[in-house]
Amino acid sequence: MSNSNDLTLNILLCVTGGIAAYKSADIIRRLQEHGAVVRVVMTESAEQFIGKVTLQALSGHPVYQNMFISDGRVMEHIDLARWADKILLAPATANTISKLANGQADDMISTLCLAADCTVYVAPSMNHAMWDNLATQNNIETLRARGIKIISPDSGDQACGETGEGRLKETGALVAELLTDSTILAGKKVVITAGPTREAIDPVRYISNHSSGKMGYALAQQARLAGAKVHVISGPSNLPQPAGIYFKNVTSANEMQDAVLEQVNDADIFISAAAVADYRPAEYIDNKIKKSSDTLEIKLIKNPDILANVSSKSNAPFCVGFAAETQNLEENARIKLTNKNLDMIVANYVGTSSSGNDIGFNSDKNSVTILTKTNTVNFPEASKNQLAKQIINLIAENYEKKHSS
Ligand code: CTP
Repeated sequence: MSNSNDLTLNILLCVTGGIAAYKSADIIRRLQEHGAVVRVVMTESAEQFIGKVTLQALSGHPVYQNMFISDGRVMEHIDLARWADKILLAPATANTISKLANGQADDMISTLCLAADCTVYVAPSMNHAMWDNLATQNNIETLRARGIKIISPDSGDQACGETGEGRLKETGALVAELLTDSTILAGKKVVITAGPTREAIDPVRYISNHSSGKMGYALAQQARLAGAKVHVISGPSNLPQPAGIYFKNVTSANEMQDAVLEQVNDADIFISAAAVADYRPAEYIDNKIKKSSDTLEIKLIKNPDILANVSSKSNAPFCVGFAAETQNLEENARIKLTNKNLDMIVANYVGTSSSGNDIGFNSDKNSVTILTKTNTVNFPEASKNQLAKQIINLIAENYEKKHSS
């Protein structure tokens, strides 16, 4: 697994020697469009169907082939397996599938798969008779039983001139399946606010806070991996946009509210992870304020409470708030849960944890307490990515409970 605090999705694409190998170029492109970083390993026979240079140019990384090159410039197979968040074999030939089923390790791809601790996806591509053969079907069942995900082939005309099941799944559908970890939020629209807001004082100055957007972006990525259609409305953040998500960048609380109200009417879930500035300057000064007096007073007025305005709608989605507190965490969070009429609130301390790490704003780690109307769950300190996964699971569970009761 790559750095768990890094929101980039690292995909190791393993290309084996079938006619569909030419489609690997398109797979790389599509994955990159979703924000993924792709590295490629190919077998020697794959090179009969597509050039190494093409895949190297498209992925922007060297293409790996030979297990025994170890000159310090290239990653070795174990490093590659550790780097990957997901390994995709596409196209996967009957021969490679058989090797995997038997636990062989006689080339780079089979060795990598044996060493991997991330999820391996196999997208078979072969003649329909080879696909239907009991030997192949038994191997596929063996892989499935081991937790390897099979991206089932399509039916249709085949390169050999015959018709049947065995064509590599259409690239768009293949990539969508690869980028989905579970279906707990399949078909759901999730709107998430993230990051800080900036409230302008004059053309060069603003009021803001230390929020980095990490928690909101991590939640967006996990909601996407759980099958949701995700819309992120983000205040200024330096983070790369997570893969496969609709994005809208905003600056001020008012802009954030407008963008949220545009999206929430048909949303199933609203997660308010943004650190919205509570106040903004009452007046925007058109020209830069000059240092002419010893003191300066800026009158502030209240910003709209975006979350409260969403949760009070008659068709409000399942609403999740965040409570960043420096004291009386649970008590303050429960007051917000009730006052803002929320389904769930994720409460965290901002400051320094007992282990001396910075937690909360602008840090990679966090520990949270999650409150619903009837329950309190504590999640110990973990990376924001790991926490995001647990939070999304809990949201999905409580959303289901609410809608089944
Ligand atoms: N929130 C919001 N709009 C605001 C202020 C907060 O949508 N103008 C949302 C935040 O995204 C968060 C929740 O409300 O999900 C609670 O935010 P927090 O800043 O902890 O609480 P406040 O309501 O601002 O109260 P206080 O600052 O007094 O603790």
